[in-house]
Amino acid sequence: MYSDHLVLTTFNEMLKTQQLGKAAAPNEIWDEIDSTNSRALLLANEGAPHGVVVAARMQSAGRGRQGRTWVSPPDAGLYISFLLRPQVALTELPLISLATGSAVARAVHSACGLEVGLKWVNDVIADGRKLGGILAEMSRSKALIIGIGLNVRAVERPAELAGRAVAIEELVAAPVDVNLLAANLTWEMEQSYSLLCRGERTMILDEWKQKSVTLGKNVRALVGGAQEVEGVAVDLARDGALLVRTTGGDVALHAGEVTIRNVDGSYV
Ligand code: BTN
Repeated sequence: MYSDHLVLTTFNEMLKTQQLGKAAAPNEIWDEIDSTNSRALLLANEGAPHGVVVAARMQSAGRGRQGRTWVSPPDAGLYISFLLRPQVALTELPLISLATGSAVARAVHSACGLEVGLKWVNDVIADGRKLGGILAEMSRSKALIIGIGLNVRAVERPAELAGRAVAIEELVAAPVDVNLLAANLTWEMEQSYSLLCRGERTMILDEWKQKSVTLGKNVRALVGGAQEVEGVAVDLARDGALLVRTTGGDVALHAGEVTIRNVDGSYV
């Protein structure tokens, strides 16, 4: 049944997954919480099992990457975290960010009919603006928390985000069923996680490359917070690092953030 906001019973009924959202411990949907990632980290440290899903209708202290805030107004976005207990080698884990990006893209397409692009390492882009982001964190108990924020409804944004952020409903004609979006995302996360567990590295990399808005572009990045790298993003390495061709040779970026150069020479 359609609802304009997240409802736990509706979300649970829509789930077609085997593991994610089907754990022995219950999924949680909060009317308001500080951060779904913080809640999932707490649950993980208390021993919650693989597959628990935590979502919220609003976050009072949503967290983004690099210590930023994730603005999370009531019923304006999807704020959701998955608690995973990875059975794969730690060396495979960097790929989970890329696999998650592809899962988000498939879910946004299947639930809302919108094609999105992926900016390394884990920004979801539509119409040249940021539609969503992914925050992966490791708990003390070695659980992996994958938090995803997606802008769904068109809302007034803080001045610093205006022109740089976009919501799904600004780009599609029909209202978004956020419970369907959450259920489809859980399904697609399960598919992506299964690829990772089966060691399907090439499939994960190829799908991400196909959706990439970064490859082939002039990019700029800070490495280790200090050294500036500027060049053309040419490929992904086997471990998911971004290969940037600079005048001094190829540089592999393993973490951090890139900005992409526009035709007018500005960077976004
Ligand atoms: C980014 O900086 O692009 C990542 C944003 C991740 C936001 C999501 S919203 C659900 C989860 N809970 C949080 O506090 N952050 C993530």
